[in-house]
This record gives sequence, structure tokens and C-alpha cells, in this order.
Amino acid sequence: MDLYDVMRTTFAAREFTDAPLPDDVLFTILDRARFAPSGGNRQGWRVIAVRERATREALAALSAPAAKRYAAQQQAGESPWNPVDRSAVDAATIERTPAPARLTEPLKQAPVVLVICVDLKVVAATDQNLQRVGVVSGASIYPFAWNVLLAARCEGFAGTITTLAVAEEPALKRLLGIPDHVAVCAVMPLGRPVRSLTRLRRKAVAEFAMRERWGGAPLAVDSPR
Ligand SMILES: Cc1cc2nc3c(=O)[nH]c(=O)nc-3n(C[C@H](O)[C@H](O)[C@H](O)COP(=O)(O)O)c2cc1C
Repeated sequence: MDLYDVMRTTFAAREFTDAPLPDDVLFTILDRARFAPSGGNRQGWRVIAVRERATREALAALSAPAAKRYAAQQQAGESPWNPVDRSAVDAATIERTPAPARLTEPLKQAPVVLVICVDLKVVAATDQNLQRVGVVSGASIYPFAWNVLLAARCEGFAGTITTLAVAEEPALKRLLGIPDHVAVCAVMPLGRPVRSLTRLRRKAVAEFAMRERWGGAPLAVDSPR
């Protein structure tokens, strides 16, 4: 596949057929994904491939609390889980908001769920002393996670980076025996998608890119290639 086609069509798949995703294909996907960049080339990614149904159901259950909050905040017109604005949604509202099935069911339905972790002992978290939520560590793991989805796309499979279960990381770690110095970054259902999206909805370049400084002129050209 043409690289640009892959980039434009790798969507978040949440519905899967009954088709298996055999170990040899999974191996190939990870064998391609491992060429992702990471800070200092430390390659702190670790992957747990979960096929057992009971464990996948537990992962879905662990996603539910954060999914409830996500849905409740969305219904209140908030940007869910953002670390800047204080939420006006109270605990009782969250409790009575059902977890949307689309946020939990894929983990039960997919033939394999990858729990993608990073070893924090090898991550250069250069923003760790700032008074804001850390984002730099993610840059050493999400290129790898995205490579998994790109490789899966090339092999005719698909999945989604999900992070809701990470809100329950202590329980997640107990479930899978993950050590303290390792962080869970994504819980990724993978399988054969029921359908493929080919037109992803994304903002135009001029809506997010600006010239020279924040608030500068939008980066736009008269005749895009
Ligand atoms: C960091 C990150 C976290 C995400 N977490 C979740 C999640 O917990 N559950 C989920 O269903 N999708 C999750 N997604 C998928 C996004 O919702 C999806 O990429 C976005 O809606 C675009 O979907 P599309 O490519 O199908 O257009 C996450 C994506 C990223 C990059």
C-alpha cells in the first residue's frame, strides 16, 4: 500500500469479525512496528498480547469507570478528561451514566488485545518538573503504538489505541502482573474490521498550523499538491 493511503485510511476500528488474528501475523505486525522512534532509542515498549476471554472481559470492565466519566462529561458539553478545566460533573452523575458499549465492547470482541506498556526507567521525561501533566514520555511509546496500527492496516487488520483502562492502572497492573516502574500506555483491541473507513474526518492544515508564533498567520498554500 502507498504510505499516504495508509496514513489517510488507518482509522479507529471498534467492530471486528470472528476472523482470528494468528500469532504469525501478530508477530509480523510487531516486527514492523519495532522500527518506531523513541527518546535516545531506548525502546522502552513492552507488549502483553491478551487472548484469554476472561482477561479481555476484565480489561473491558476496567475501562468502564473512565468511560462513564467520559460520556458524562461529553453530555455536559465538556472536553472529557482534559487536565486543564475543572469538571462540573459530579460523582453521582458519572455513576448513573452508562458506559457506552462502543468504548468497552471492542475489548471483548477482538481476537487479541495488546496491552502496550513503557518501562519508565528508560524514558527521558524532560517535562517531569513542569507544573502540568506530562506529555513527553508518551512520545517514546505512541509512535510505536501507531506503527502497530499502520502495520495491522497493511496486513488487513485494524484496531484502536484505547486509554480508558489506564485510569484504573493499579488494578490493571494487578490483573496482568505489571511491575511498578512500568506504565500502561494503551489497551489495543486488534482484529479483522467489519468495515473499513476511507474518509477520516480531520481538521484542515490551516486550522492547526500557524506561521512563526502562536496566533501567527495560518499555514496555507494557494495550490496544495
Ligand atoms: C491517545 C489516544 C487515546 C484514545 N483512547 C481511546 C479510548 O479509550 N477508547 C476508544 O474507543 N478510542 C480511543 N481513542 C481513539 C480515538 O477516539 C480515535 O483515534 C479518533 O476518534 C479518530 O478516529 P478515526 O481515526 O476513526 O476517525 C484514542 C486515541 C488516541 C490517540
